[in-house]
Amino acid sequence: MEHNQILCGDATIILSQYAAECVDLVITDPPYLCRYKDRDGRTLANDDNPDAVLAVFEEAYRVLKPDSYCISFYGWNAIAAFSQAWAKAGFTTVGHIVWPKRYASRSGHTQYRHESAFVLTKGWPPKPEQPISDVQEWAYSGNKYHPTEKAVSVIAPLVRGFSKRGDLVLDPFSGSGSTAVAAALNGRDYLGIELEERYCNLARARLKGVSRYQEQRKAA
Ligand SMILES: C[S@@+](CC[C@H](N)C(=O)[O-])C[C@H]1O[C@@H](n2cnc3c(N)ncnc32)[C@H](O)[C@@H]1O
Repeated sequence: MEHNQILCGDATIILSQYAAECVDLVITDPPYLCRYKDRDGRTLANDDNPDAVLAVFEEAYRVLKPDSYCISFYGWNAIAAFSQAWAKAGFTTVGHIVWPKRYASRSGHTQYRHESAFVLTKGWPPKPEQPISDVQEWAYSGNKYHPTEKAVSVIAPLVRGFSKRGDLVLDPFSGSGSTAVAAALNGRDYLGIELEERYCNLARARLKGVSRYQEQRKAA
């Protein structure tokens, strides 16, 4: 598998072409299956299509090496469907991380003031020597590149906490490439997969920026 690429297409189909057990870590932020629409009317592909989202986890499990981690953000409204899909794929749940927000991103029966992710495993990886806290600092990305963009500073502690330098980090719902950028900035290889071409192009442009920055630092 060629590393350090953003591939455009359906992650279930693309990953099915890869050999089993070639990825060290999955960090991903799937559509929350909540028919999200932001203030500008932007929506997410497959946010109304659970089958097309949940099937990806079976392939993610297959390509992960034995005894490795998958960190997946999720939305509370579809937790039953996500939990079922993760268990069906073979994952074990070993932790849960929350990011409290200083602001409410929406209001319903409650104010929406946190994000969350599950820590899943394939097999039994050795516990990290210095486990990260399951309460993490949130940063607002500004959603410049993508309607539900995660800040690189939110993803980077996950990359550092659950992989080592040189590892391959996969994000099968790559969006604007925040996971890939966090991986590249932390000396990991990346593979991002995204359905929408405009976000693939944005992610590739962001990663070119990271390469340029790293070359300039090396030359200085
Ligand atoms: C929540 S967004 C990820 C945003 C990303 N974390 C970022 O910071 O930009 C989920 C993305 O998954 C993509 N997507 C949905 N279904 C997909 C599939 N089956 N394969 C690949 N990408 C998919 C959507 O187009 C969307 O951009």
